[in-house]
Amino acid sequence: MPEPLRTPLPRVVPRVLPGHEFDGLVAIVTGGASGIGAAVADRLHAAGARVAVLDRDPSHASPEHFAVTADVSDDASVRSAVAAVAARFGRIDVVVNNAGVGAQGTVADNPDDEWARVLDINVIGMARVSRAALPFLRESPAASIVNTASIAATAGLPQRALYSASKGAVLALTRAMAADHLREGIRVNCVNPGTADTPWVGRLLSSAADPAAERAALEARQPHGRLVSADEVAEAVAYLAGPLAGSTTGASIAVDGGMQNLRLRAE
Ligand SMILES: NC(=O)c1ccc[n+]([C@@H]2O[C@H](COP(=O)([O-])OP(=O)(O)OC[C@H]3O[C@@H](n4cnc5c(N)ncnc54)[C@H](O)[C@@H]3O)[C@@H](O)[C@H]2O)c1
Repeated sequence: MPEPLRTPLPRVVPRVLPGHEFDGLVAIVTGGASGIGAAVADRLHAAGARVAVLDRDPSHASPEHFAVTADVSDDASVRSAVAAVAARFGRIDVVVNNAGVGAQGTVADNPDDEWARVLDINVIGMARVSRAALPFLRESPAASIVNTASIAATAGLPQRALYSASKGAVLALTRAMAADHLREGIRVNCVNPGTADTPWVGRLLSSAADPAAERAALEARQPHGRLVSADEVAEAVAYLAGPLAGSTTGASIAVDGGMQNLRLRAE
């Protein structure tokens, strides 16, 4: 016999009008001042959410959102930011753990302090924000966490040893959290973007010897022949975060132009 649910999940599928999926709900988006996070914040807001952007540098956050300065590698900073969101809105229903940093090189290239820094932001940062938000999520009728992992979690990419280790950890963390919190009514999922057209990739390209050739190589690596847009990733995050994904937990959605799963023949 399966163990009975301690906190029964809602048995009734909510009726939700398209465009109003997040009416009445409050969402936190980390790294929401730029790129994928900014697109997620706008997408959730457009569907009715009140959105808090937690970012190390929220100066570019849209004025539509409640911007809070927070460094996900600093537990005190995270706790005070989450408390500020709860004080402002009185509830937290959705957490999008999206803040992250890159790292380049093989396993031989990054010193220990760089390993510690990147894992601290990309992995422990998600644990810190989730931990601080859990008491509020437990009170929500539509609680959901969405983590931004990466194609680097599922495919071996050259020169990305540390970054890939961090995103593989995010994928494993997502599944473990989904198991731990299902019976509390909290769903946990992740998205795995391919190379996305964000300021991050803009910085990578501008530091390349030949930015146009580098961009063409990145585009060609994805079967659909172009970079992923931040809005495309945001759409997947919004689906996973929203009440209409009520039967989806512990899942990952690839938004990568087919890079992970397809093997095309040369034409
Ligand atoms: N762009 C891509 O190709 C791509 C592909 C797969 C996954 N991702 C992931 O998507 C996420 C967002 O990437 P992006 O391309 O939008 O990057 P971005 O650099 O445009 O935005 C990242 C945001 O996170 C914030 N941030 C960084 N460190 C932080 C910290 N310690 N505390 C709080 N905020 C912090 C930055 O200030 C920035 O606003 C990251 O987790 C990244 O690993 C990106």
